[in-house]
Amino acid sequence: MKHYLQFKDLSADEYSYLFARAALIKKKFTAYEKHHTLRDRTLAMIFEKASTRTRVSFEAGMYQLGGSVVHLTTGDSQLGRAEPIEDSAKVISRMTDIVMIRTFEQTKIERFAAVSRVPVINGLTNEFHPCQILADIFTFIEHRGSIQGKTVAWVGDGNNMANTWLQAAALLGFHLHVSTPSGYEVNEVTAAAAPSMATGSYKTFADPLQACAGADLVTTDVWTSMGFEAENETRRTAFASWCVDRNMMAAAAPDALFMHCLPAHRGEEVEAEVIDGPKSVVWDEAENRMHVQKALMEYLLLGRQS
Ligand code: CP
Ligand code: NVA
Repeated sequence: MKHYLQFKDLSADEYSYLFARAALIKKKFTAYEKHHTLRDRTLAMIFEKASTRTRVSFEAGMYQLGGSVVHLTTGDSQLGRAEPIEDSAKVISRMTDIVMIRTFEQTKIERFAAVSRVPVINGLTNEFHPCQILADIFTFIEHRGSIQGKTVAWVGDGNNMANTWLQAAALLGFHLHVSTPSGYEVNEVTAAAAPSMATGSYKTFADPLQACAGADLVTTDVWTSMGFEAENETRRTAFASWCVDRNMMAAAAPDALFMHCLPAHRGEEVEAEVIDGPKSVVWDEAENRMHVQKALMEYLLLGRQS
């Protein structure tokens, strides 16, 4: 049994399979063709933080696969009343076939997975957001072909998204340029990204404009992630120069794409002209969450399909 708790939980070969499978699943969805490979299977979705895209993409995706969904939050379950995570995991995983969790510490999802009878998927933790990077890379491939050897510029917080990009660069062989304000750097230990350092695929830049120079993809995220709201004001000051603007996009490769996992704050981490401009593929990126996660759930439950 496989879990998907971090990007590095799957191999480059498994990712090639998933990207091809997601393309097929998307094509069938677009053509209104049934794809009921998870008939009678149930997905439990546990949300300890807010969500729009993750909720809709997993829920709609599971129904489209012929399965059904149970939705739990901290507030309406015993999770919010201090029932141990291991006890919750043992019960939930006896009644459902696969579980998606959005929570705070990565250790929480690891504790759940350690005693779960069924595959567990990370729907975002403080440390990682693997389903999002899965969708982002699929979107890049759709628009530009293979990401291998390409350059991705990360501008902003050294957060869950940045950590996951670090793992993806090491695994899939692309270059990652990271520019964060001082004090908000990615944590290599958390990201477990030593291999990318070794292959030179990860480089840091003090100046975000330099990080974007020649990049094939420029990407960013909110200045303040969920769970860090108390730092909002300090972050606003620290991140003021880390707004992806037209100059940064002009410094990137002529056919560079812009991505943002959303929700976005126009005028903070990105200029409206960039996110709503011709290089932005954020709506494809959001939609693709559903297609890649359908491929992922199918893979974790059934293995490779031909
Ligand atoms: N990008 C993303 O995960 O969005 P939600 O927080 O809306 O799920
Ligand atoms: N880094 C953001 C991503 C939201 C999808 C957060 O954790 O809030």
